[in-house]
Amino acid sequence: MHHLPDKIRNVQELEEILSRPSEGLIATLKELDGDIMILGAGGKIGPTMALTAKRAVDAAKVQKTVYAVDVVDLPNLAAAGIKTLKCDLLDLDAVGKLPKVKNVVYMVGRKFGSTGSESLTWAINVIVAYHAARTFQGSRIAAFSTGCVYPVVDIRTGGTTEQVPVNPVGEYAMSCLGRERMFDYFADSDKSKVVQVRLNYAAECRYGVLVDVATKVWKGEPVDVTTGYANVIWQGDACNHVLQGLKLASNPATILNVTGPEIFSIRQVAQRFGQLMGREPKFTGQENGLGYINNASKANALFGNPSVPLGRLVEWTAHWTMQGGENIGKPTHFETQNGKY
Ligand SMILES: NC(=O)c1ccc[n+]([C@@H]2O[C@H](COP(=O)([O-])OP(=O)(O)OC[C@H]3O[C@@H](n4cnc5c(N)ncnc54)[C@H](O)[C@@H]3O)[C@@H](O)[C@H]2O)c1
Repeated sequence: MHHLPDKIRNVQELEEILSRPSEGLIATLKELDGDIMILGAGGKIGPTMALTAKRAVDAAKVQKTVYAVDVVDLPNLAAAGIKTLKCDLLDLDAVGKLPKVKNVVYMVGRKFGSTGSESLTWAINVIVAYHAARTFQGSRIAAFSTGCVYPVVDIRTGGTTEQVPVNPVGEYAMSCLGRERMFDYFADSDKSKVVQVRLNYAAECRYGVLVDVATKVWKGEPVDVTTGYANVIWQGDACNHVLQGLKLASNPATILNVTGPEIFSIRQVAQRFGQLMGREPKFTGQENGLGYINNASKANALFGNPSVPLGRLVEWTAHWTMQGGENIGKPTHFETQNGKY
């Protein structure tokens, strides 16, 4: 069990804590054959995923190459001993030239700015997924999806389990279901083993639902509590769960919700930020009892509670925000219930 500090002081410390491999992941990688490739490794979660995989491979003392692939350069990952490859996955020929590995974590996606450039969102979320699913037939694939493929639900349901039928609202969420279906197509025909990872909100100090709320409280801006409840998971724990989830990949595909165990009140968390920051939070709207609430009891039963509890994550986020720590400037729009991003 790693020590969790009271505060995270800089990006270097943050990235070290984010990329800690769990004992469970190290054990999984001792059993899993083949190399690991992260597709879409340059986004918000990808670097944590690649670094966690690399640290777990080293800790397990197994011979595996960790590849990180993106359309953008990945110098920090290359410096960490990860094999980086630049590839535009919209180009089927280029995808075909990637090394054929046994384990793929698929993280390519497009969300922000989807309203007004719907065709690009569909292309990135569906055509690229098709290219990857077709090229990596025969591999184990953990394919990132989102809790937004489920309907918005009443908090009294306890959140959507994997059994709840999908009902995406808006084109971003629809295109994410399209992305799942491309992987399903190959898993249904016995050609690939797939686990669809329906994630609700990774959280770390530079972005996420908690950063959105903390920033508003710190700046004295009103926090909209209409979508009054959410769940999040420390991004490092999400990556550990997804990499361990590779062993669940099957045909037809398995679905795995990934998020934290608590459904928390946005109002209560804002009040806690207020206490920690010495500010009086302001609110707008009234809780309507609805939200994208994801129930991750299945992952929890398989992999245990996340290593970073919500309370610690709130304290880290408050301190980071007050010290003016880096913010990537991409609000989650967790308040959205109409699917327009
Ligand atoms: N971050 C979250 O909290 C969250 C929540 C729910 C679901 N998800 C899902 O998880 C996935 C990963 O999340 P993220 O926040 O890291 O996403 P992101 O948007 O930050 O990263 C996506 C990556 O895909 C790459 N990419 C896009 N088009 C490409 C192309 N043609 N060729 C190669 N690479 C390309 C981008 O360069 C980027 O590095 C997303 O697809 C998203 O749907 C994320």
